[in-house]
Amino acid sequence: MLFGKKSVCRDEKTMIPWELLDRALVPGDGGELRLCRRGKEFSIRIDGQELMNSSAHGSEDALAELACTRVRSRSGARVLVGGLGMGYTLAATLRLLGEGGRVVVAELVPAVVAWNRGPLGVLAGHPLQDDRVTVREVDVAEILQSEQQAYDAILLDVDNGPDGLSRKANDWLYSGAGLKAAFSALRPEGILAVWSADPDRAFTRRLRAAGFGVEIVQARSRGPRKGGHHTIWLASRTS
Ligand SMILES: C[S@@+](CC[C@H](N)C(=O)[O-])C[C@H]1O[C@@H](n2cnc3c(N)ncnc32)[C@H](O)[C@@H]1O
Repeated sequence: MLFGKKSVCRDEKTMIPWELLDRALVPGDGGELRLCRRGKEFSIRIDGQELMNSSAHGSEDALAELACTRVRSRSGARVLVGGLGMGYTLAATLRLLGEGGRVVVAELVPAVVAWNRGPLGVLAGHPLQDDRVTVREVDVAEILQSEQQAYDAILLDVDNGPDGLSRKANDWLYSGAGLKAAFSALRPEGILAVWSADPDRAFTRRLRAAGFGVEIVQARSRGPRKGGHHTIWLASRTS
């Protein structure tokens, strides 16, 4: 880790210098992630743009809450979370699942897992230490392509949304082929929940074409009534 380097994550609005804690290459064609800290606030950035900030995680929590309330009563519910980020979606999933529930987290960048075992762990209450969690340092696409009827819920927050930001290869996840793979990886009546910074009508159409029943929810970034609006698709496998 590169603890201690200053100002490489400069905030253009306030010009307050951030401290660069570490950086890591995204496998494939994905550029470089930077982990930065300013006081108690953390930021993960990719090529100068913010992917995630610890002060705004309302919609990341909502992603898990909206999907998991629908499946939590199933015995031995299994949830796939892709990716880990700062662990908020994972922590919200664990709060809702019972003792018999199990969560697989797919995270593409091994350094993100290390950051969650280190300086980021405290943010969401160290969810990786929960015995119900298995971490896989892989592209979530690999899991979707290899598992059939394995999950009651799949929570996808790997990028800025169907438009992408961090990695061109993630486009596949939001394509017709990717959505069909997600449909097959779900158990009957399972839920695919997808986070996005913005609405996207073409993506809604692709979900329907893949066989999902679709509900769209606007979630706020800083709790139920504060912060920017993000889009969450709740796509149900009804057969
Ligand atoms: C916006 S963050 C997720 C935030 C998370 N929901 C939270 O609550 O903190 C996106 C994460 O997805 C990871 N990622 C990007 N593409 C991925 C992929 N194809 N498979 C698995 N993880 C991926 C990134 O490295 C990053 O950790």
